[in-house]
Amino acid sequence: MTSKALLAATALVAITLSLPATAAELTVGFSQIGSESGWRAAETSVSKSEAGKRKVTLKIADAQQKQENQIKAIRSFIAQGVDAIFLAPVVSSGWDAVLKEAKEAKIPVVLLDRDIDPSGKELYLTAVTSDSVHEGAVAGEWLAKAVAGKACNVVELQGTVGASVATNRKKGFDSVVAKNANLKVVRSQTGDFTRAKGKEVMESFIKAEGGGKTICAVYAHNDDMMVGAIQAMKEAGLKPGKDILTVSIDAVPDIFKAIAAGEANATVELTPNMAGPALDAVMAFKAKGTVPPKWIQTESKLYTAADDPQKIYDSKKGLGY
Ligand code: AHR
Repeated sequence: MTSKALLAATALVAITLSLPATAAELTVGFSQIGSESGWRAAETSVSKSEAGKRKVTLKIADAQQKQENQIKAIRSFIAQGVDAIFLAPVVSSGWDAVLKEAKEAKIPVVLLDRDIDPSGKELYLTAVTSDSVHEGAVAGEWLAKAVAGKACNVVELQGTVGASVATNRKKGFDSVVAKNANLKVVRSQTGDFTRAKGKEVMESFIKAEGGGKTICAVYAHNDDMMVGAIQAMKEAGLKPGKDILTVSIDAVPDIFKAIAAGEANATVELTPNMAGPALDAVMAFKAKGTVPPKWIQTESKLYTAADDPQKIYDSKKGLGY
């Protein structure tokens, strides 16, 4: 090879090496919480299809609700040299050390659907989440309007202890209670975002509240716990949606079925498509160095019986919930 040709070949290699990875070459590791709810199952399935649409290889590690499994998965993704890491943090604290390791390895991290403590702010690229304080407030405002000043004892089914969404959904709802003297949260306990625990905790609330007679409404941090609570109310001879009002969060198909049957009253939607905007942000960052906003906020819409729940059920039931 002449020195001119060698120079040209070297230049070509240099250019090729500095070119951004195409989507087809991107591999993203996703540390998913588990499968505690219908919403979570839909998020996993939508993430796969959004990655497929963009020809991104998505490696999903199911943490079975355990933070230590998520930390292990992140370390394994770092060792594999993935292009980016998606993290749905089961709880908000305890991430700084492992996220520093990702940062040192120059692997961008994107938070999906839950937040971490402010000390970790510099350790991730962006967070794709809803405003979960607002979700709680939307649920509270709906109830305040529905009872129109009448005294109302509320029982609350909280999400996973330490999860940002549980803390925030409580905070948002409480802010409405603070402005409405007729609303009172008389019992509040975690149901860990699952149907089984939602049912179990609701059974204990019913027992403690005179067979449910002193309960005016249930507020659940997700629909799955509400579906469990509806079952508990029915088994106790109560009419959910009538004797006891319900408001919850997620907008999963089963809650629309319950709303259509008059057994639930309202839900606030959380989109299961967090991965789509996250993948777009990572691809633009990798290709052009575009730094996304620190928070990519998803919408929170309220649905009631006025919104044709049967039609919404039909449109959502095939989405992996
Ligand atoms: O982080 C989002 C929450 O996690 C959903 O509202 C709940 O269903 C899930 O378990």
